[in-house]
Amino acid sequence: MSETKIELIQGDITQAAVDAIVNAANSSLMGGGGVDGAIHRAAGPSLHEECMRIAQELKDIPGGPCPAGEAVITGAGMLPCKNVIHTVGPVWQGGGRGERELLAGCYRKSLLLAAGRALKVIAFPNISTGVYGYPKREAASVALETVWECLEKRPQIEKVIFVCFDHENFQIYREMLGVV
Ligand code: APR
Repeated sequence: MSETKIELIQGDITQAAVDAIVNAANSSLMGGGGVDGAIHRAAGPSLHEECMRIAQELKDIPGGPCPAGEAVITGAGMLPCKNVIHTVGPVWQGGGRGERELLAGCYRKSLLLAAGRALKVIAFPNISTGVYGYPKREAASVALETVWECLEKRPQIEKVIFVCFDHENFQIYREMLGVV
């Protein structure tokens, strides 16, 4: 059942006109490179201003404002989507520092925030598989497993779209989803 609620595309997540796109942010919420940079560039300055307000509210959180495995939600500025969910993936350190559970937390917390706002269609990038160095195949397995589990629990979420920017991730997801 939950397999039919999953879609896979290769492209630029900033162009996704969905209820929420997920940003692979860093704990400061200050913006950065990769998909974080692309989202902030496309959204315009209002997104950064909102992130700074949230960062100020969460400034005393250890490892924060947004620790790895956690997520916050903002508006979307000039992006075609309605919201941006900023989640912070784990930096890959060999796999023995709880990276798997932290990465699963990114998907789980993002979908929890979406469900709480009655958002129905959410697009994810391949969190942690760029600068943070998480091996792509392992990350894809965590992502799919966690999203399948969440979709079973939260039927109000209608669709999750995995947006792969790079070809390697796209091929891995195609293989794992059995897309010929
Ligand atoms: N649309 C969709 N996916 C994208 C886009 C885009 N426009 N640009 C890059 N990506 C993909 C990358 O190909 C990679 O598969 O996003 C995935 C995550 O890569 P990063 O953006 O490097 O994110 P991550 O590995 O989680 O590292 C986060 O990088 O940009 C900084 O501020 C960010 O410090 C944080 C760190």
